[in-house]
Amino acid sequence: MTPKRIILDCDPGHDDAVAIMLALGSPAIELLGISTVGGNQTLEKVTRNAQSVLVMCGREDVPVYPGASHPLVHQVEVAPQIHGESGLDGVELPEPTVPVRDKHGVDFIIDTLMSEPAGTVTLVATGPLTNVALAVRKEPRIVERAQQVVVMGGAYGQGNWTASAEFNIWVDPEAAKIVFAQEWDTVMVGLDLTHQALVTAAEEEKAREIGSPLANFFIGLMNYFRKSYADNQGFTDPPVHDPCTVAYLIDPTVVETVAAPVDVETQGALTMGRTVVDMRQPAPAGCRSRVATKLDRERFWGLVLDAIRTLSEAQK
Ligand code: RIB
Ligand code: CA
Repeated sequence: MTPKRIILDCDPGHDDAVAIMLALGSPAIELLGISTVGGNQTLEKVTRNAQSVLVMCGREDVPVYPGASHPLVHQVEVAPQIHGESGLDGVELPEPTVPVRDKHGVDFIIDTLMSEPAGTVTLVATGPLTNVALAVRKEPRIVERAQQVVVMGGAYGQGNWTASAEFNIWVDPEAAKIVFAQEWDTVMVGLDLTHQALVTAAEEEKAREIGSPLANFFIGLMNYFRKSYADNQGFTDPPVHDPCTVAYLIDPTVVETVAAPVDVETQGALTMGRTVVDMRQPAPAGCRSRVATKLDRERFWGLVLDAIRTLSEAQK
């Protein structure tokens, strides 16, 4: 099977780190490069975190391109209460030994989509959508060339940063509005789906059985994440949001989706950042956006743990 070739635009972030591991450890994915965006922490911190995760995965060959530090309109809002001051608290972060690339993350997205054959590269975004929106505005032709855009963000139900808004959309609602308004195939993997991706003691035990430095790194990340989510959002087991996007690309049967139009509120005093999803069926003819609804949790965690196992074996 030909691997799905992806760009990962992210803000590591504990769950972004697991998305990177899953992308690198699955034979069904070819990770062309990482662009980073200010979100969970500042651009500088999330960029360094991406590099550290690549060191842990033994894959510093994967290029990292720093992108936008600030949202299009709003002020920067980071999430230390969830991810800590470093953005990846709870583990020792190895020093990067490969410098980040000097090309801007937005230009990496544009250049890759414009140079690779049309329809062969999928854009995966697991942070605020600032880079993706800027890329669309700078080079609108990427819209017809991207194979698909898979976004961790939003919700058709409750938000997590406000009653209305999920964090990635909250940080840059204008960018999200631009992204979901384009004529490309999008899949919104929102909280409705990712709140099913809880990591429990069972997964931690399976990771412990792998017994590698990477598996222990994963355990350390999840233990910190567990305390953050318990203290701040009342979860006993934390939802590991971002790798759900990659799992969908590895095996679309792991994540059920429905066709539904998605728009983003950018004005409401109480609803700013809400993804307004019209779940009435049937969806309008020509609707190119899909929304994730149901996760096969066991198979999802099987994919993640297999990826960690594969990466660990390759480092022996
Ligand atoms: O709301 C969860 C999302 O916001 C995840 O992508 C997490 O990493 C943060 O970016
Ligand atoms: Ca993220």
